[in-house]
Amino acid sequence: MLSLEHVVKQMGSVRAIDDLSLDVPEGMLFGLLGPNGAGKTTLLRLVMGLLRADSGRITLFGRLPPTDPAVPRLLGYMPQQLAVYPGLSVVENIAFYGHLYGIAGAELRRRTERLLEMVELTPRRKSPVGQLSGGMVRRVMLATTMVHQPRLLILDEPTAGVDPLLRLKFWEWFGDLRAKGTSIIVTTHHISEASRCHRVVFLRAGRVLEQGPPGELMARYGSADLEAAFVAATRGAESNSAAGVQ
Ligand SMILES: Nc1ncnc2c1ncn2[C@@H]1O[C@H](COP(=O)(O)OP(=O)(O)OP(=O)(O)O)[C@@H](O)[C@H]1O
Ligand SMILES: [Mg+2]
Repeated sequence: MLSLEHVVKQMGSVRAIDDLSLDVPEGMLFGLLGPNGAGKTTLLRLVMGLLRADSGRITLFGRLPPTDPAVPRLLGYMPQQLAVYPGLSVVENIAFYGHLYGIAGAELRRRTERLLEMVELTPRRKSPVGQLSGGMVRRVMLATTMVHQPRLLILDEPTAGVDPLLRLKFWEWFGDLRAKGTSIIVTTHHISEASRCHRVVFLRAGRVLEQGPPGELMARYGSADLEAAFVAATRGAESNSAAGVQ
């Protein structure tokens, strides 16, 4: 579904993506994990064609994201920063994104009802989004991301600032969506929750440090928890680079 080959992207003085190669098959819940500044958001923006790589090649559904106009319709993107209209109600926000994709009338109403049910916001449908809690706003964002029924959801820190119980809900929704055929690429700082992914990548300084199914990575580092495996992999890479190992 997604393939990156030797991708390089310089952002200001930083090589945010440094000769990165990666393959993501369709139908997966795929986790992109790494510390602040690892390059997660930059990578997602490259994949969506919002940024252009300095070198290397990215293909998505066999197409080239920056130039192919068919790509955006296949994608739903939930950015890391808030992307809703606080003065509009929950329903109006969903409708706004629906209209962008040419969805209107009875079809829009039908999809909106289903999305409201999924994110459990039916009772708050008429509330201005500016009056909702942070967790509710994240749920509205997820709903707006899906109104055009994308084949691939790209979620950048969807659970940032979300309480533990709602985080569990988010991961249940991701699992349900995936089971119904939507591929998902998700970044998160809550590394343990990513153990629900089929496959994860540990990213550091724009490079792939490790990748594999969470269970395999935990076994490789003798860790009972994905976060511990992540810390061990990062420390290992740091001591290798201090010792001059490539
Ligand atoms: N517009 C920009 N101009 C200059 N440097 C940038 C820009 N955007 C990102 N960077 C740099 O690129 C690197 C990767 O940033 P990026 O936002 O991709 O990291 P991230 O993994 O998403 O981090 P976080 O977990 O904090 O969201 C960082 O060093 C960042 O400072
Ligand atoms: Mg980011």
